Amino acid sequence: MRFPLEVFDGVRAAFPAERPVWMRISATDWVEGGWDVEGTIALSRALEDRGCAAIHVTTGGVSPNQKIALGPGYQVPHAERVKRAVGIPVIAVGLITEPEQAEAIIADGRADAVSLARAMLYDPRWPWHAAARLGAQVIAPKQYWRSQPREYKDLFASAAYGQR
Ligand SMILES: Cc1cc2nc3c(=O)[nH]c(=O)nc-3n(C[C@H](O)[C@H](O)[C@H](O)COP(=O)(O)O)c2cc1C
Repeated sequence: MRFPLEVFDGVRAAFPAERPVWMRISATDWVEGGWDVEGTIALSRALEDRGCAAIHVTTGGVSPNQKIALGPGYQVPHAERVKRAVGIPVIAVGLITEPEQAEAIIADGRADAVSLARAMLYDPRWPWHAAARLGAQVIAPKQYWRSQPREYKDLFASAAYGQR
């Protein structure tokens, strides 16, 4: 843990105090005898003690011996374990692709936020579609308002945008 903690302290000291710094942790190596979730929890607690603003829980491809149990939300259980161990916000990532799935992870208290990579590369308007499906609103530039689909009459929060 010494290296990431030193890096965190260095970045925290260099970055404006009123701005948050958080860390993305590879929760497990998915390899027998490698880094694991218990280590991640210990590191997360140490980071919280040092003023870390949030923990982003992922896993990296670090070994050809990895046996990753891939499936929807496959890393969320790790985020959930970290969330139970710390008081700072925890972000989950990994095959979160559906708006209802993302919403449930947060609503069920498994994580405080979700993060998407491949689903957003495939569809950069993912948040707009998710907002439409979940009945939320989007703050979009005025030039886009004419694109609002008939079935989502209140999708674009024009009033909120106008006040900016
Ligand atoms: C093209 C690509 C590049 C990525 N680069 C990084 C990276 O530099 N650092 C990192 O921590 N994760 C990286 N990731 C992992 C993603 O941030 C994310 O954690 C992972 O893809 C799982 O989320 P997803 O299922 O929503 O894609 C990358 C993923 C993709 C597809």
